[in-house]
Amino acid sequence: MDKLNAKKIRADFPILKQKINGEQLIYLDSAATSQMPVSVEEKIRRFNETSRANVHRGVHTLGVKATKLYEKSRQKVADFIGASSAKEVIFTSGCTDSLNLVAASFGEQNIQAGDEIVVSIMEHHSNLLPWQQLAKRKKAQLKFIEISKDGRLDLNGLKNKISSKTKLVALTHVSNVLGTINPIKEVIALAHEKGAIALIDGAQAVGHFPVNVTDLGADFYAFSGHKMFAPTGIGVLYGKRELLDKMLPYRLGGEMIANVTRDGATWAEVPQKFEAGTPNISGAIGLAAAIDYLNSIDLQLVKEHETELTAYVLEKLSKISGLTIYGPKESYERTGVISFNLKGIHPHDLATALDLDGIEVRAGHHCAQPLMESLETESTVRASLSIYNNKNDIDKLTSSLQEAKEFFSEFR
Ligand code: ALA
Repeated sequence: MDKLNAKKIRADFPILKQKINGEQLIYLDSAATSQMPVSVEEKIRRFNETSRANVHRGVHTLGVKATKLYEKSRQKVADFIGASSAKEVIFTSGCTDSLNLVAASFGEQNIQAGDEIVVSIMEHHSNLLPWQQLAKRKKAQLKFIEISKDGRLDLNGLKNKISSKTKLVALTHVSNVLGTINPIKEVIALAHEKGAIALIDGAQAVGHFPVNVTDLGADFYAFSGHKMFAPTGIGVLYGKRELLDKMLPYRLGGEMIANVTRDGATWAEVPQKFEAGTPNISGAIGLAAAIDYLNSIDLQLVKEHETELTAYVLEKLSKISGLTIYGPKESYERTGVISFNLKGIHPHDLATALDLDGIEVRAGHHCAQPLMESLETESTVRASLSIYNNKNDIDKLTSSLQEAKEFFSEFR
């Protein structure tokens, strides 16, 4: 398990040294936001101390330096996700922003009355609401791919849902509740067979295993920086150049124009067309530093570590009677996002009890209410793993859950 040099990795994240409620912090909420290594903080600090200026504006030395760093970051992202050009990488404020961009631009231009949009029941609200509301505005139909009992996409159902009327398939790569890794390459191919565009929400995938958008054939692929060791407020929308070129800008303002007159305007080329206003320059530089950090570890090792640890969580939790785990039971079909419920204890109570032991997990509907309905629950507790977690964290989670179970049983 220690191919990763776990000791060094933990030292890269000083936040993990602190105590919470007098107990050693165990951070199991990386699906909500990951922690940031010192190398990323250091890169941002250096930028602010030596090169801070606006980009694509001034001709002065600092402006040129900042622009070079910003564009170098874009190239790094493009290489990391296998995009054929940096022009296909748009910096946004996060995955939500990226998905809204596609809905507001591509969706408004291309979805017509009678068209169909296909999503899955496991979508985060960010990859559901933009399509739900667009469908309402356009009098299009929103169709849902359902899931099996163990939280996998119903592939047979899916084949019937995608038809010649389908204009867009919007699907998550990895469920933020179930951890399921969806067979998106197959789904994208199916969408293309029917002439539909495929958009993938990669928020829970990028940084956990290698993702190559060209190999996958994705038309659009969205993700956030803060779930992969970068700062909050920076995200990416990858889009195929031929699609981006035809799309209208999402926001209007500085730096996204070719020319403006009293009566009208023409737009800059991609990606600037979609980056109105001053972008999150230090965020983009931080994202590039996070990619350097991941590359220095090797994504394949990250995946192996998280898969092995996921198997360990599944094994340990399955021994607690009254505990229901949602999602696939096999660790290779999923990532380290593990949702569960303990019979008779509200997820918020359980998460509070864990917090008293220094263990940070998320509880609630995880911004996936239709999925909760399908799972016949209102909420779950969710533990989510990253490279800095180890078996000791999971042992502590398990014993804390056992204690909470005994404690709450006294009130029944
Ligand atoms: N989307 C993030 C999560 O699932 C915030 O927790």
